[in-house]
Amino acid sequence: MPDLKEEIRRRRTFAIISHPDAGKTTLTEKLLLYGGAIQTAGSVKGKATSRHAVSDWMDLEKQRGISVTSSVLQFEYEGYCINILDTPGHQDFSEDTYRTLMAADSAVMVLDAAKGIEPQTRKLFKVCAMRHIPIFTFINKMDREARDPYELMEELENEFGIGTYPINWPIGCGQQFKGVYDRETRKILAFTDAHRGQSRIRATEISADDVETVDSFIGPRLRQTLFDDIELIDGAGYEFDLEKVHGGKLSPVFFGSALNNFGVEEFLEHFLKMTLSPLPRMAGETAVDPFDSGFSAFVFKIQANMNKAHRDRIAFMRICSGRFERDKEYYHVQGGKALRLAQPQQLMASDRAIIDEAYAGDIIGVFDPGIFSIGDTICEKGMNIAFAGIPTFAPEHFAAVERIDTMKRKQFEKGIEQIAQEGAIQIFHAPNTGFEEVIVGVVGVLQFEVLEYRLKTEYGVEIRRRDLPFEVIRWVENEDLDISSLNLTSDTRWVQDFKGSNLLLFTSPWCVTWALDKNPSLRLREFSEN
Ligand code: G4P
Repeated sequence: MPDLKEEIRRRRTFAIISHPDAGKTTLTEKLLLYGGAIQTAGSVKGKATSRHAVSDWMDLEKQRGISVTSSVLQFEYEGYCINILDTPGHQDFSEDTYRTLMAADSAVMVLDAAKGIEPQTRKLFKVCAMRHIPIFTFINKMDREARDPYELMEELENEFGIGTYPINWPIGCGQQFKGVYDRETRKILAFTDAHRGQSRIRATEISADDVETVDSFIGPRLRQTLFDDIELIDGAGYEFDLEKVHGGKLSPVFFGSALNNFGVEEFLEHFLKMTLSPLPRMAGETAVDPFDSGFSAFVFKIQANMNKAHRDRIAFMRICSGRFERDKEYYHVQGGKALRLAQPQQLMASDRAIIDEAYAGDIIGVFDPGIFSIGDTICEKGMNIAFAGIPTFAPEHFAAVERIDTMKRKQFEKGIEQIAQEGAIQIFHAPNTGFEEVIVGVVGVLQFEVLEYRLKTEYGVEIRRRDLPFEVIRWVENEDLDISSLNLTSDTRWVQDFKGSNLLLFTSPWCVTWALDKNPSLRLREFSEN
């Protein structure tokens, strides 16, 4: 059996985040190409091929040609074992995207050089910042017209409140894109788009000290601009500080072109040097050491009905410590039961494979007979730990739903409860009532469609949906507050979740401020505890 510590030491687990179209899929594909996990570029990206073989589990996905759920890919590179957590690339995303970030140790943020920060990157960044995970920025599409690199750095610093450290610096852009200057080696990597990313080719390197060759390559004008730029960023930019990188306070920035395979392998090499193997995770007061503890993991995603014939559910878990062994008996903390995890699987590039073992840092998917919830801990018997729950993020869109056929009460309740348990939607109801009219909250409006579609196809229930004007939801922290006596704007609504917690729905942030101003004892929270 492989050495436990060595296996964990070589693990790197990260999420790729971006706004749709910035180039996340293209970059992922190139990384897999370097790792030898796929043979030719195009097999991830091909819209009708492997991309869907990986995550295709719902007709809705096919109809829309989008990936509703996140997938996990594993590949090997120069002795490292790398897990990439892909986040849905659609404009409209669900809490899954957030939860995926809870399972990653670092994040790679892909930006379109012409656009800089876009709404989805902004949202995802917030989650990374909350967890203080290292963030690496890949500024893509330098082969097209791009914004000024200084301006892009400044935007990152101002909007996100972090420092930036360019690892390389671009020479021109678009038609004039000549390559990048690597600050560590003081070499220029020459850009060529001849290979259009089909194969693994290293760029030609030119020493920046060899002025003559530099001139013959980029011309005296661009050379002068480059030398001025280098002087400026060396003199006025942030100092490199690996500790700050690890704390998520300084983002190493890379310029390149994923499509042209330019700057991707260099990025991967720097990235691997700067990131750490899995770190201890907190379970209450205990820091669970990945190397020294037995097997432990937490569930961060539940995906239903990947196989229509079986109406199955797969629980995805991130291993936090030790080694997972197939057929060994483990303990499900929240369920209070011993269990064997059935059909443990891992996604290797475009294949799903049953695995015999996995290590801290890895993600495995196991068959879930309906016993797991998001945030649950599974560990070796006797470890007696529970990882901190995954916070439930406040939904931003709300609708009241009811079943059209009054006879279908049972199916409606079961369907809506199960879908909520998977974390795709959050459900609420008027105080002290049940399922008659359910208020559904979602992070992205696409989830409403997913809900309607799944209730119909899997549970045979058609629903009527009425969109509600609320934008903000807050959990009431006070345990024994008389909600009905609060002074609230007339359009504020009191609801409860199915655990009985009290919540308030507001039509605008202004109404939240009003509620807090008029009711000094009221305490509101943006996230549920778990
Ligand atoms: P996403 O996953 O972040 O949504 O982005 P994706 O990789 O699908 O890339 C979006 C589009 O941008 C694709 O073009 C892709 O080829 C292009 N692209 C990615 N990286 C670069 C780059 O470095 N330079 C240039 N010029 N383009 C890049 P598309 O037309 O939507 O798809 P396709 O026809 O190329 O498949």
